[in-house]
Amino acid sequence: MKKEIKKIALLTGGGDCSGLNAVIRAVVKSAILKYNYEVIGFMGGYHGLLMDDFIKLDLKTVAGIFHQGGTILKMSNKDNLFNFKTVDDKGKTIYKDMSDVAIENLKKHNVDALVIIGGDGTLTSARDFSRKGVNVVGIPKTIDNDVPATEITFGYRTALDHIMLSLDALHTTAYSHDRVMILEVMGRNAGWLALEGGIAGSADVILIPEIPYDINSVAKTVFDRYNRGSKFTIICVSEGAKPIDGDVTIKKLDKDSPDAVKLGGVGDILADQLEKVIKPVTGQDIRVTTLGYIQRGGVTNTFDRVLGTKYGSYAVDMIARNEFGRMVVIRNDHMDSVRLEEVVGSGKTGQTSSGGARIVNPHGDLVNAAKDIGISFGD
Ligand code: F6P
Repeated sequence: MKKEIKKIALLTGGGDCSGLNAVIRAVVKSAILKYNYEVIGFMGGYHGLLMDDFIKLDLKTVAGIFHQGGTILKMSNKDNLFNFKTVDDKGKTIYKDMSDVAIENLKKHNVDALVIIGGDGTLTSARDFSRKGVNVVGIPKTIDNDVPATEITFGYRTALDHIMLSLDALHTTAYSHDRVMILEVMGRNAGWLALEGGIAGSADVILIPEIPYDINSVAKTVFDRYNRGSKFTIICVSEGAKPIDGDVTIKKLDKDSPDAVKLGGVGDILADQLEKVIKPVTGQDIRVTTLGYIQRGGVTNTFDRVLGTKYGSYAVDMIARNEFGRMVVIRNDHMDSVRLEEVVGSGKTGQTSSGGARIVNPHGDLVNAAKDIGISFGD
């Protein structure tokens, strides 16, 4: 029998991206205006669910948040309630299953369904709550745009705008000083951000994880341009890019995070490699800019505001239809859903480094178009 819904809850988990507030707003507005549901939001992701830290979400709470990056509910990527890090009486670190405490909190508030917005780690826990009988609807989020079950994720296009504007800015200073400018961008094991951002920002070289680079090939592009009279070169490198005979650059290991391997630093390594080859010949200086977390923040762009609205309102429709244990996706521009069991765990939503993500096809239309206009991939 179909469950009558009166009250829903919402939480955001993992790393943030632009468009989260647009999703929250859409869930709250549609829940209240279309279905007359009550809505509460747990603060700081699963931590709020465990500690019963929540706020009431109404039309007033979500007024004025549409354009803002981040999430009014805050988030964390450290609180796996099924394997929760805590300390015992003797001060020793132990891991405990705290999921029942969270479920009791949901019962206490008479929550009929829970909307969970997050990456692979967060949605894997969503699946586990669903297995324990909680009525869950998942919404995937990442700036990396590498979720295989869905065409596009919110936050990606806003991040692309940051990359494009940064490359535009680097062009003028690169030109003034006849320099080689390297911009390192995010994306983990998928090169979408570097590829589309690099094309939009008219980079001369784009280095992505899917196409390992040869430093001599990158240098050749710099020399060819120099000899043609273009004495500057712009390189857009993905944090997951690697040389043909090497590996990714790891910045640090964070074992409390569901994705312990934190990438970063390939821009500096590339600069060192390149300097040895080009400096003695052209004398050009190389400078590196790491765009970092700017890509995850700022004003949400048009596309992500609309996309976030679609994801959020569809999640509430799914709740009304009692379609639980599923994740919202978009296919051929139509909203749909897939079973969480099919897409989470082992990095299948694309949020962890363990594989399964939707990556760039090195022989696809986008790479071919870029190559056609002379962009080098260092291969
Ligand atoms: O997956 C999104 C992402 O922004 C990646 O592009 C980046 O490598 C990672 O998150 C950074 O994660 P953290 O917030 O844990 O530093």
